[in-house]
This record gives sequence, C-alpha cells and structure tokens, in this order.
Amino acid sequence: MKQSDEQLFNPSQQVIDYANVKEYDNNYADSIANPLDFWEKQAETLEWTTKWDKVLDDSNPPFFKWFTGGKTNIILNAIDRHLKTANRNKLAIIWEGEPGDLRSFSYHALNREVCEFANILKAMGVKKGDIVTIYLPQIPEQLFAMLACAKIGAAHSVVYGGFSHEALADRINDANSRVVVTADGGFRRGKASNLKEIVNKALEHTPTVEVCITVKRTGVDVFMENDRDYWFHDLKSLPIAAAQCETEIMDAEDMLFILYTSGSTGKPKGLVHTHGGYSVYTATTHKMAFDIKPEDRWWCAADPGWITGHSYIVYSPLINGATIFLYEGAPNHPYPNRWWKMIEKYGINILYTSPTAIRGLMRYGESWPNKHDLSSLRLLGSVGEPINPEAWKWYYKVIGKEKCPIIDTWWQTETGGFIICPIPALPLKPGSATKPFFGIEVDVVTDTGEKTPVDEEGNLVIKTPWPGMARTVYQDPDRFKELYWQKYEQQGWYHSGDAARIDEDGYYWIIGRTDDVIKVSGYRLGSAEIESALMSHPAIAESAAIGLPHALKGYAIHCYVVLRKGYEPSPALEKELREHVGEMMGAIARPEEVAFIDVLPKTRSGKIMRRVLKAQALGQDIGDLSTLEE
Ligand code: PRX
Repeated sequence: MKQSDEQLFNPSQQVIDYANVKEYDNNYADSIANPLDFWEKQAETLEWTTKWDKVLDDSNPPFFKWFTGGKTNIILNAIDRHLKTANRNKLAIIWEGEPGDLRSFSYHALNREVCEFANILKAMGVKKGDIVTIYLPQIPEQLFAMLACAKIGAAHSVVYGGFSHEALADRINDANSRVVVTADGGFRRGKASNLKEIVNKALEHTPTVEVCITVKRTGVDVFMENDRDYWFHDLKSLPIAAAQCETEIMDAEDMLFILYTSGSTGKPKGLVHTHGGYSVYTATTHKMAFDIKPEDRWWCAADPGWITGHSYIVYSPLINGATIFLYEGAPNHPYPNRWWKMIEKYGINILYTSPTAIRGLMRYGESWPNKHDLSSLRLLGSVGEPINPEAWKWYYKVIGKEKCPIIDTWWQTETGGFIICPIPALPLKPGSATKPFFGIEVDVVTDTGEKTPVDEEGNLVIKTPWPGMARTVYQDPDRFKELYWQKYEQQGWYHSGDAARIDEDGYYWIIGRTDDVIKVSGYRLGSAEIESALMSHPAIAESAAIGLPHALKGYAIHCYVVLRKGYEPSPALEKELREHVGEMMGAIARPEEVAFIDVLPKTRSGKIMRRVLKAQALGQDIGDLSTLEE
C-alpha cells in the first residue's frame, strides 16, 4: 500500500553546510563500490593497540568476523583516549533523577567511577570472559557497571528493569552469571520501584549466582542476604575500589555483551556483540546519521536495557566524545512538560526517542512544549516502530520548529546499529526511514528472493555483512543460522523478519514484522513467550497471543484462551489472566484483552494460525484457509 502523503521535506542550506556528511547519493555509491575500504577508513579513526590483518573474514558465513587480528577495547575509545585530550574536563554525563536530583560527570570523573567499579568487580572474582548480569534503573551506575565490565574484558548482560523475576532468572541462568548488579529501586511516576525484591525472588532459582551488588537509590527497606548481597557504597569505601584500573586489551572479535531479545519461537535469545566491529559501526552511524559534534548534548531517551540504549546512550556517544544526557523517570512527571523543561534547562541539541513517546506527549497538546525555549535542538530522531506521518509532523513542527531534520532509524538488536536511516542532508518523507546507511546493501524481495516491484511489499533483507552485526546467538549458533540466514541461504542474505516496500525514489517504508514478534510501545515481545506465561496459569488449556493496532502503543497484545474443564469465563478471570502475564513477564507484556474461545484455529499439523485470529479481529479477509483444520 502506498502512503497517500509523500511530501518531501528538504533540509535547509544551514543544516547541509554544518553537516559531517553533506550529500547522500555519491557517498553511498562510493561506500558500496568498495565497502571494505569504507569500513577500514572508519576503523582507522579509532584507537587500536594492534592493527587488524583483515577487515572482513568471510570464510565461514554467516559467522562473519571483522578486523581480525586487531586488538582494542571499546573503553580505549569510549573513555581512555578522551583522558589524553581536552575532553578530559568535559561533561560526559548529565543525569537528572525523577525527583529532580542532578549528578554530572566529566570524562575524568567517569573514568574514576568506571575504574572503581571495575576493581570492585575484579575483587568479587569477575574475570575476562565472564558474563555479569545488570538489572538496574536508569541511574548513572547502570552505565558505570556496563563500562566497568567492558574495561576488564567481562561481558555484560543487561536485563531491562521492567522485566519480572521470571524473565530475569531465565536470562541469568542462560548466561550462567556469577555476579548480578542491581539497585534497591528507582523512581517512576513519583513512586519507588522495588527492584531488589524482584532480584531476591529471581535468585531463588539461579544456582550460579554467588554475589549480588546493590546500589542504593531509593532508600527503601530491602532484604540483603549475608555473604551474597553487598551494598555498592560499602564496597566503594573499601581499598578494593581503587581509582586506577588497566583496560584489558581484547581481540576485536571478543564478546562485549549479550543482549536478550524476543523472536517468533521459544525463549529469548542472547545476541552476541563484539569489541571491534561494534565500536566501529556504532560510532560511524552515530557520527554520520546524527551528525554528532564534540560540542553536542545528546539525549537518547531510551532505556540502557535495550539495544538502543547500549549502542546510542552508552557506547557511540562516548566514543564520539559527546555529552550524554540521561533522565531516570516518566516523561509526564510531575507534568507533561518534563521533557521540554529539561531540553531547555540543559540545552539539549539532539533528541532521539520512540514514536510511542512522541504520540504520548502529543496527546497533551502544543501548549506544554510551547512554554519552553527549544531552540537548542538541531536534530530529532525516532526508533523502534514505524512513525505515523501525523506524529512525524507534530514532532517536526511543534518540537523541531520546522528546522530539525527527523532521523528515523530502522535497525534491530541483531544489527547493532542503524541500517536504514537518513543523514541530515537527505530530503525526508514523513514515515519513511529513507535509505540504507553507507557501506551496506539492503533490499526488499519476495519469498524466493526476487526484487519486489516498486511500492510492493516484500521481505526486508540485508545483502552484505556489516561490522555491527551480531556474531551469533549465545551458545546456540545453529539457532543463529536458522533464524536469520536459512531463508535466503543460497543468496547469503540476512533475513530481518520485517516487511517493507521501496518507493519510486528508492525510499524504504517499513511495514512491520512478518513473524510472531509484537512491538508494544516499541518494546519487542514474542507471541510464544506470552503464550507460555498464560499456559502457566492453571485455568488455561490453550492460548494464542497476537498484536492488534493501538493508537498510542503502535500494537497492543490481545490473547485468546481455551479454558480447562472446571473453569468458567468471567471478567474476574480475565483480569487475573492479564495480571498473571504481567507478573510473569513484566508490566509491558500485560495483555490489553484476554478473550475466551472454544477452539483455536490450527493447521492440520497443530500449529496455531495467529493470522486467522488477527484477520478476524480486524474484520479482514481471512485469506487462504486450505491448511486450517477446523
Ligand atoms: O520491526 C522493526 C522495529 O523494531 C524491530 C527491532 O526491534 P529491537 O530489536 O527491539 O530493536 C529496536 C531498536 C532498534 C525491527 O525488526 N523497528 C525498529 N526501528 C524501526 C522499526 N520499525 C519501523 N521503523 C523504525 N525506525
């Protein structure tokens, strides 16, 4: 389907003159004429202790390796090299807590915090190659913990603070973490969460955990187990927390982190990212797409617990020497002008957020942002779900005052960084993520791999490897192959799981997932996980979860359940089931609705036909039912 509205929004001459990259077409053509040269040139802007022998090792696809033989550590670029320049005294992080408290750290101070944290982890027995699980609210210690792991060569596995104890325990167990870092809680909408209580519950089912380090944020009473739980501030006051720590030199391909994400089937999978290629990829995409300049105050309003936070709150802005702004709490607390007030107060230059957040703030009307001077903004960004043209235009007009290009970035946990996105010099179309980033080839193809005609929907594929790509699924390389590379095995393309179309000007329009992944407020959830949470309730015999369009959240979760004998449908049971899913998975997964039905539509081989449920709910044509059992 073609979008009716394809007005072009051209950047001003001022935006082009100021931009790091002033033109798209020729630069793109050059970059893909010789992508390895392009990526090598980018890698040369970073610090390595030993240069690579080879830019790309493609001898064993899809297990590509980048900058092999090269040695570095992302921390050499994110922190250490700034200490040798004037950046040392520049602000690295400005953080505002929801109650209004303020903390800020220069690169010098950040280094000190990271070294102390790193020494504490070492004293707790963390070694190169271990995986530390981090479950923290949005406080500076979340960044320090991640960076400290990287510094000593341990990998981090950050679990989003909104996930439940079950989800946390699963992730800790998959990673076999010995050490968990958490906090007593954080503030959201004026209330203190109780993270430590959730961790305590999770740790009843995690035999590998020996140490839990707890940061004090809220001051609520928490249970601390002797010989396992340590207050971070106590550890920090000990001589073990020395302020100097050597950065461990890593192979380019050594693991930097794993991050769990949902797919069509089964349990969340831990995608593996590395020190070398990921540094190059995130820094380059950030510098070119968001035109980052050393003097910028950059605010990526995601949670560090998701890939957006890893790549664009923590690592790339630090590598590029920008100042990161971070905010702990809800956008509308205590009033809907909270974000606009902070943009004015701190002079934020670039804001990068999700369509759900924009739609949420748009609801309150223009008068809230109009009370504030937003003239420091020069670029705006969007990520996580397609942005509807109406929200795009509001963002462009009311927040950006028609002078800030909107950088709509399409990418995934698996890609490490932006794949399709504009640079500021590219004319924009509201709702389109525009064109592929430099150095990569992308396309939209049919199930058999033919290019789809202009404006026709097909599968979005990435045709060439890129340095930021996930290297594997942690401890499950077969799954990595099967999930992303099997469909176009012959061609050697990466299958994204998204549908898209390309218009006559070569602009990409992302349509959404083709699999059973549901994007709720930009958060990624799998039908299978929601169904297995439902199945753990004694009343449920069978269940199906689908996503249906929602004005604010993009998609909302709708479930269909068949009850066991002895249970009767009732509003009370519906409520109980919704809460049960929320309890099992975390509040973001709580279904909008649970409907009771007698039978689920299934194929003859017993697979639930979720598309039938979806079509029915939307009043659409149900399509080919030849495989339906009943
Ligand atoms: O469906 C696409 C959607 O988010 C999915 C990836 O989710 P996740 O791994 O959690 O990463 C989110 C942040 C990068 C994609 O498969 N998506 C992401 N960005 C966009 C998008 N859909 C449309 N437009 C975007 N800009």
